[in-house]
Amino acid sequence: MVKLYMTRCKNNSNSIKMEGGSPLGGSVRIQGSKNAALPIMAACLLIPGKCTLRGCPDITDVAYMIRLLESTGAGVEVSHTAEGIDISIDAGNISGCRLPSRYVKAMRSSVILMGALLGRTGEAYVDYPGGCVIGERPIDMHLSGLEKLGAQIWTEGNRIHAYADELAGAQIRLPFSSVGATQNIILAAATAKGTTVIKNAAREPEITVLCEFLNKAGAEIILTESFWTEGRLIIKGTPLSKLHAADFDMIPDRIVAGTYMFAAMAAGGSVNLENVPIEQLHSVCAVISKMGGSITYSPKGKTLKVSAPEKRELKNIDFIETDVYPGFPTDLQSPLMAAASTAKGSLTIKESIFSSRFKIAEELRRMGADIVTDGDTAVIKGVAALSGRNVIAHELRGGAALVIAGLAASGITTVSDISYINRGYQDIVGDLRCLGARISYE
Ligand code: EPZ
Repeated sequence: MVKLYMTRCKNNSNSIKMEGGSPLGGSVRIQGSKNAALPIMAACLLIPGKCTLRGCPDITDVAYMIRLLESTGAGVEVSHTAEGIDISIDAGNISGCRLPSRYVKAMRSSVILMGALLGRTGEAYVDYPGGCVIGERPIDMHLSGLEKLGAQIWTEGNRIHAYADELAGAQIRLPFSSVGATQNIILAAATAKGTTVIKNAAREPEITVLCEFLNKAGAEIILTESFWTEGRLIIKGTPLSKLHAADFDMIPDRIVAGTYMFAAMAAGGSVNLENVPIEQLHSVCAVISKMGGSITYSPKGKTLKVSAPEKRELKNIDFIETDVYPGFPTDLQSPLMAAASTAKGSLTIKESIFSSRFKIAEELRRMGADIVTDGDTAVIKGVAALSGRNVIAHELRGGAALVIAGLAASGITTVSDISYINRGYQDIVGDLRCLGARISYE
């Protein structure tokens, strides 16, 4: 049984303390992608053999997914490396399909295990993943997609029971390009009888790389031009017996890279980010440039140099709307809000993906930010300076935004409830220390 939570110099701290006001400088390597690792780990349940996923992030959501995989009878081994963790998953003998509530509820993305379990065993029992502070997060599109593939789904209290004698390929049009629903359908359709076509599928890099992994393991998922232009994804069902073990190098985390890009803009200075998936960050680079930042990329080491303008030259763009990929990512909306808080002029953000992703604004206001939110819109008027405060992380990316604000603020800031941040950032303190920040776990 893997130790639940791999810690890296966090010694179970619950808060982060930093002294802001100094520009950043230095280099750091970007960790493996949380949102790519989780679905690929789930996909390993389909494969009757041992897969090794190299360069995964050492974060709590990955630890929870390991627990969930172990609960089905899969064997999991973890080895720590300089960059993160390598995870070997042997799903040769799957014995269970009832997932433990404790870990299902700890992490929203546990819901995609339904598709993998249906594809492998024909049955899945999971809890309804609750809503969270960024929005209700229903799973209607997941369930209707699985039903179209032939699953019978009913609820027993707060648990969902899914059963399928045989999954059969179907034509499925998603009303919204949901990342999780697309992943769930892919995982169930990969071994279904016949061909599935998903229309309006999500096109995030985390979808593409899930398909690449499954194809490497013997599946047949076709990413034609129409996938990139209209989200049309073709999955030709492959018998389970044809799937085989595959090793895979995890892609870097574009959201962690973007977080540190906005940290440099907010605190000032110039940083080198290594192992950056620049091709996935065009919308973010465009915003950074419009704010006065300069960006240079060197393919060697996939190194991105981000330099902030002089403090008084950091300027807000007028408007941004979060969108599905390749639009501006909702996961970087809060980090942008933090950087915008001390930029000249005002920025209006329209959050179009989640129903309430502005909770962190109230903590930023306590630091002196001028932010007014109304429904799906937030207006940030840049102020001369933020002041260090004791603030609380209410969710993952909002917590990272508070760290960014603390680096820009004058004085000392303490961010508590950092368990949210540890869900997605392997070692935000260690990384920012590499970039010259005066920051520590408390
Ligand atoms: C994934 O969440 C990511 N999580 C999120 O990152 C990311 O913000 C999101 O995609 C959008 O890019 C992981 O990959 C683990 P969605 P997911 O289904 O799959 C609504 C982070 O910080 N919806 O694309 O849950 C939903 O309520 C996290 O790393 C339905 O209405 O996102 C939301 O408003 C946060 N019915 C919108 O669609 C459904 O059946 C987008 O959700 C499914 C979704």
